[in-house]
Amino acid sequence: MKTKYWLLSLMLLVVVALAACSGGGEGDGEATDSTDSGEDTEDTSGDSGESASEGDSSGEVVEIVYARGQDSTSATDELIKAFNESHPNINVTFREMPSDTGQQHDQYVTMLNAESAEIDVMDLDVVWPAEFAQAGYVLELDRFLQRDGIETGDYNEGALSAAQFNGKQWAMPKFIDAGMLFYRTDLVGEDEVPQTWDDLMTSASAIQGEGSTEFGYLMQAKQYEGLVCNAVEFIASYGGQILDENGEVAVNSPETVAGISKLVEIANSDFVPGNINTFTEVESHTAFIEGQSPYIRNWPYQWNLANDEEQSEIVGNVGVAPLPSGDAGSAATLGGWMTAINRYSENKEEAWEFLKFMTGPEGQKISAIHGGLAPTLPALFEDEEILEANPFFQQEGFQNALSNAVSRPVAPNYPEVSEVIQINVSKAIAGELTPEEAVAAMEEELNAVMQ
Ligand code: GLC
Repeated sequence: MKTKYWLLSLMLLVVVALAACSGGGEGDGEATDSTDSGEDTEDTSGDSGESASEGDSSGEVVEIVYARGQDSTSATDELIKAFNESHPNINVTFREMPSDTGQQHDQYVTMLNAESAEIDVMDLDVVWPAEFAQAGYVLELDRFLQRDGIETGDYNEGALSAAQFNGKQWAMPKFIDAGMLFYRTDLVGEDEVPQTWDDLMTSASAIQGEGSTEFGYLMQAKQYEGLVCNAVEFIASYGGQILDENGEVAVNSPETVAGISKLVEIANSDFVPGNINTFTEVESHTAFIEGQSPYIRNWPYQWNLANDEEQSEIVGNVGVAPLPSGDAGSAATLGGWMTAINRYSENKEEAWEFLKFMTGPEGQKISAIHGGLAPTLPALFEDEEILEANPFFQQEGFQNALSNAVSRPVAPNYPEVSEVIQINVSKAIAGELTPEEAVAAMEEELNAVMQ
């Protein structure tokens, strides 16, 4: 009898151990999607949101690699520090990727096509999720969201849906971006802030050379994704569009020509750097914080950087306003980043813990305070510390820009769509094509890639 009981207990133990190793509770049976590294024994049915590793007493530390583009602010360091301190069984290290989003994209694609597990968690630009989901590069997150009781309704709807594809959630929004005009309050009076692109041109020429300025305006005009963002703003501010509401190519219109013409005029003005066609965010924000220009078009992080005593020469002298208007009003491109898990990660459960932290209220607060990044959880716009660090978050103009921001086309082959826009706008800036010719070429080439 005794032997029988002993045998039964042994069998029970084996069953429990096997269940723990298989990470039961995920439920959809896709082997490649196993969310469990086999190194923890958490209760996956719980909805407390408490980390498996927080409760893990094994003492084993799981290493997680988090990748994102170069961060000129201290936000990434602060996020990782806060997470590692509160999760003693997980150690996150940072892998810096190129700051040019297109180059960053290509590096991820190379890694993920090779099914590499060298990174676990990564930030995705708002224009990538469809592609990454369709290619199977990232893990579908619905099971984690449900299991941990994450209230997706707390998120900004547009930002949340930008991370959905085929009805599933592939990433969680970390911050939202919208193009804004930053200006020097010591050079531009509050009532002198340009309202139209023509006002901006007049003012930029007039102020250029004052104080320590060398230029009048800074933008992103290199042939890369940032140029698409600048172009979408010019186009929309004159009433043009790239695709219509039905997703049909609608770029060839007098309104789009007017927008591109204004962009070309400004990019060829004497008040922008002569090599503006090499400027990404990094070159433009560097020139701005060095005091070289009264105006810059950039994303919200510019505020934090311009007020960083360690890096900036213009601390306390920065104002924020909506971008100037064309014939149809002011328009901001919708940008932003979200966080996803590499489908080939060997530590998906720990990767999720980090993702959950970064994109949850605590992580977004750190990003807002240390990086000037606009939260995707609208409730955080009421947070006093966040507002103290970013007073312009309260401005009506900023909130309007966020809520009316214009999306770039959504397509699983977005890089091809982007390339068509980048190349033709660059040719227009270089004078190789007239704005009319550039727009006609875009129409033809977009029709070809959108099929
Ligand atoms: C910012 C935006 C992103 C955009 C990029 C272009 O990072 O958040 O959406 O693609 O700039 O440079």
